[in-house]
Amino acid sequence: MRIDIITVQPALLESPLGHSMVKRAIDKGFADINVINLRDYALNRYGQIDDYQFGGGAGMVLMCEPLANAIDDLKAQRNYDDIIYTTPDGDVWNQKLANAFSLKENIIILCGHYKGIDERIRKLYVTKEISIGDFVLTGGELAAAIIADSIVRLIPGVLGNEESALSDSFQDGLLAPPVYTRPADFRGLKVPDILLSGHTKNIEEWRLEQAELRTQERRPDLLK
Ligand code: ADE
Repeated sequence: MRIDIITVQPALLESPLGHSMVKRAIDKGFADINVINLRDYALNRYGQIDDYQFGGGAGMVLMCEPLANAIDDLKAQRNYDDIIYTTPDGDVWNQKLANAFSLKENIIILCGHYKGIDERIRKLYVTKEISIGDFVLTGGELAAAIIADSIVRLIPGVLGNEESALSDSFQDGLLAPPVYTRPADFRGLKVPDILLSGHTKNIEEWRLEQAELRTQERRPDLLK
């Protein structure tokens, strides 16, 4: 899978995409993630990519031409399944969307910045508008990193143990059950006996029970 991220702040994406699971997925060839600096498509030698908004008001808006040229350049090289725009007024990102996007071939993520992008780019190019929650970030880069991370780890083959994606919170509509490791007794707090029993079927049942209980307590909305 290929993910092209268009941004005015490429440095903000370096660390999240350059470590851990995402880096391993890239190194192993499961994912190809490219960061495109919108400044490379600036209007003039002053590096202009934004301008004041028509009608007045504080905050700059990313202009049509640099964005359109950057996207056209990518589209001339390959077909894209989707062009995502990160914005607080988009659909809220969730595991179901991450699953769906992990099956795509090529996507572009367009990072908003300042007051956002000219509405005409949304109309002409963007196929999916995504928010990562009801709060406002400085720019869309961290949202893009979160979207890319949650997609990449679901690409078949990326996780060493395929099971572990299946037992993630949300993957089956439930929060994950509690987990324990050694020691079996920490400051008097003991690991539930059943987990030490070696009885796989009972352990599975207990985990499902705990997942349902935790979901009921913390996120009853997920059970509806
Ligand atoms: N840009 C600014 N805030 C955002 C949010 N909550 N989600 C996605 N992109 C954003």
